[in-house]
Amino acid sequence: MEELEKSIEVCDSIRELEKLRVNVFGKKGYFTAEFLKLKELDGEDKRVFANELNKKKDFFTELLNSKKEILEKDEKLQLMQKDAVDVTLLNGVKSTGSLHPVMDTMDKIIEYFTALNFSIEDGPLIEDDFHNFEALNLPKHHPARDMQDTFYFKDSMLLRTHTSPVQVRTMLKQKPPVRMICPGPVFRPDLDLTHTPMFHQIEGLVVEEGKKVSFANLKSILEEFLQYMFGDVKVRFRPSFFPFTEPSAEVDISCIFCGGNGCRVCSQTGWLEVLGCGIVDPNVYKAVGYKNVSGYAFGLGIERFAMLLHKIPDLRSLFEGDLRLLEQFKC
Ligand code: DAH
Repeated sequence: MEELEKSIEVCDSIRELEKLRVNVFGKKGYFTAEFLKLKELDGEDKRVFANELNKKKDFFTELLNSKKEILEKDEKLQLMQKDAVDVTLLNGVKSTGSLHPVMDTMDKIIEYFTALNFSIEDGPLIEDDFHNFEALNLPKHHPARDMQDTFYFKDSMLLRTHTSPVQVRTMLKQKPPVRMICPGPVFRPDLDLTHTPMFHQIEGLVVEEGKKVSFANLKSILEEFLQYMFGDVKVRFRPSFFPFTEPSAEVDISCIFCGGNGCRVCSQTGWLEVLGCGIVDPNVYKAVGYKNVSGYAFGLGIERFAMLLHKIPDLRSLFEGDLRLLEQFKC
């Protein structure tokens, strides 16, 4: 009996405990044998013996039940420990990707102008001569076409050299007022430190009926935009030439590398050129059938913005897909 009691106490598995329970309460177990002994007893002896036996029975029932409870808890705990997952462990999979610096810069610019109620327009990458040149006051054989080298297809279609054709497409499909930007890739056969055959531009166009839009409007919107992008910089407008705007200007910001004192990046000038703009040329309105309107346009290269913002020296590195470069832009 004492042996059984000990065995139950030291038992360490539910299976083993079940065997012990059979030894105690089973048909061939301890209590069946003990109760059989009652037959041989009478009177007071029988009563005392039965009493003792019932007490023992209660004791063992209690002992087995509580042991079972302990073992079940242990087993559950062991299972949980075995199956436990350490969520803080690295799983060997590299962390998720992030936006390419050019896309990130594009998003920032888009965010700015959509907040000012500009719509986002889109156009085909394979353009025709009319939208890419002709309607933008760049007739065939005009020397200004040389400003942009072009990838041509056989049938006089071409890869758009700038996002300006989207101005034309937007004005052809919609009446004034127009207030739009169009981001996207453009193509030119160029490759060096500051040029790649594919790069991205954002074009802006605002046209209103009457004479409401002036160069002053253009100046103020671009000044604020450039200060939003580059912080506390000076902005200057330099007279320039684009066939689709008149007057035209190129816009510079004070060099963000040297604060305008002159350095290698700004060729000691203290200024960095960042975009082109102007008042829309009347010939462009003629091509799209707009009358009695006024408006301005601007266009910029997104890679140039990204390079300046992140101080990237070689434009080509943005397209090499080198993770060592790209991982530096994770946020
Ligand atoms: N399309 C010009 C280029 O690719 C950029 C540009 C300049 C766009 C002046 C404009 C503008 O809308 O007004 O070089």
